Amino acid sequence: MNKISTKVAICFFIVVLIMESFLMYYLHQSIINNRVEEEFSLLLANGANHRDVLIENYSDTTIQHIVLMEKNKNREVMITDKTGSIISSSDKSYMLQEEYQLLISNLDQQKDKIIVSDWRNSSYIVSAHPYIVDENQFGYVLMFQSTNSINQLVDNMNMHFVIAGIISFIVLFIVYALLSKILTRPLIRMKEATEKLSKGDFKVSLSYLGNDELGELSRSIQKLANDLERLKNERNEFLASIAHELSTPLTYLIGYSKVAMRKGLSEEERKHYLEIIDEESNRMKDLVKNLLDLARMDETSFTVSKEYFWASSFLENICKLVMPSYEVKKIRLNLVCENDFQIYADSIRLEQIVLNLLDNALKYSNENSKVTLEAYKKDEKTIISVIDTGIGIPPDEIEFIFDKLYRVEKSRSRTYGGSGIGLAVVKELVEAHGGTIEVKSKLGKGSTFKIVI
Ligand SMILES: Nc1ncnc2c1ncn2[C@@H]1O[C@H](COP(=O)(O)OP(=O)(O)OP(=O)(O)O)[C@@H](O)[C@H]1O
Ligand SMILES: [Mg+2]
Repeated sequence: MNKISTKVAICFFIVVLIMESFLMYYLHQSIINNRVEEEFSLLLANGANHRDVLIENYSDTTIQHIVLMEKNKNREVMITDKTGSIISSSDKSYMLQEEYQLLISNLDQQKDKIIVSDWRNSSYIVSAHPYIVDENQFGYVLMFQSTNSINQLVDNMNMHFVIAGIISFIVLFIVYALLSKILTRPLIRMKEATEKLSKGDFKVSLSYLGNDELGELSRSIQKLANDLERLKNERNEFLASIAHELSTPLTYLIGYSKVAMRKGLSEEERKHYLEIIDEESNRMKDLVKNLLDLARMDETSFTVSKEYFWASSFLENICKLVMPSYEVKKIRLNLVCENDFQIYADSIRLEQIVLNLLDNALKYSNENSKVTLEAYKKDEKTIISVIDTGIGIPPDEIEFIFDKLYRVEKSRSRTYGGSGIGLAVVKELVEAHGGTIEVKSKLGKGSTFKIVI
């Protein structure tokens, strides 16, 4: 009873039943009415015919002839005279005599008429046809039509209608079976699949992929399962990468701190090892800070609070901040912001974005090269580009550089000191602003990162 197909089948059945009842009732009535009308007009036509013959040639022979004509038919004829007595009748069993006595009172009309029309309850329908030959000779030609044939037709029809009803039931059961196959089975599979998902088993395979709503639902669940499976794998990979990322500097820290603790080291040697320890600790601190940022961004609570601020002063401050490290590597940093304009963004987050891009430009550029920070306004949007002439990114790696912990050539990271989090943070931040980031790069020639917010 709880099956959706049963509910649909019951609704379907009730609708079909109501429609069928109306149709059958209408059909039943109209067929019977037509048939009865036909019988009435045939009877009237025959009676009128006999009456006309009688008027034209009134004689005993004609009367006998008329009576003879109705022999062996489902009809009887009876001819009466002016006193109301029966002159002749085709009914040799005299069964109609009694019936006739009941009808005498109705025989006062001047026109042909059906005087007994109740075909359901009486065994005959009767028509009366007045005839007048002259003042002395007048009376009625009465026609009796047995109602057997009409009743037989009704019985036949009732039987056919019962058969139609049974066929409807059978069709209904076939529909029910089909509905349960088409509707219920995929639903049950989907229910089982979602139960599996809720238990953390994401290996789900749904086969029903029709083009209807069920197919769409099925595809959505399959996509959800695939996404969850992918996320689970990504999470595991991500955790493994973090563990790896943290263990590498930790190994250095442990190794170099042991070396630094050794007795008999010169002050200079000890300073060198402590510097390495300091550098690695800072790297770890940055990594953990970036990871925390990313984790916070994944939470729904993360919001950007936008405000208006001037572009040139904002970017000049950033340049001042990074200038010392650029000078160490002898890289020129150019700021191009010709027409000052107002930016509408979260200034702290935007600073984080630009700092990350400038940090990359510095890290992945060779000494004595040039980096340009360019900003302008176009169609109410702020466009900020960081253009370097550094080592570039291989074309087949560009699509991955925004992934968490992704680095081009893992060996680069030791040389350049990256952990592959910066651009993932940048992308999340730009998207949180409702903006976009794109990159163009040529290996060995340089890269351009352009953000539009
Ligand atoms: N301007 C650039 N020129 C060449 N390669 C770049 C540039 N910016 C990023 N990349 C490549 O993309 C990778 C991902 O950059 P991302 O900033 O996410 O990580 P990272 O710089 O290695 O580490 P982090 O920024 O977390 O310290 C880098 O490892 C680097 O190989
Ligand atoms: Mg970086």
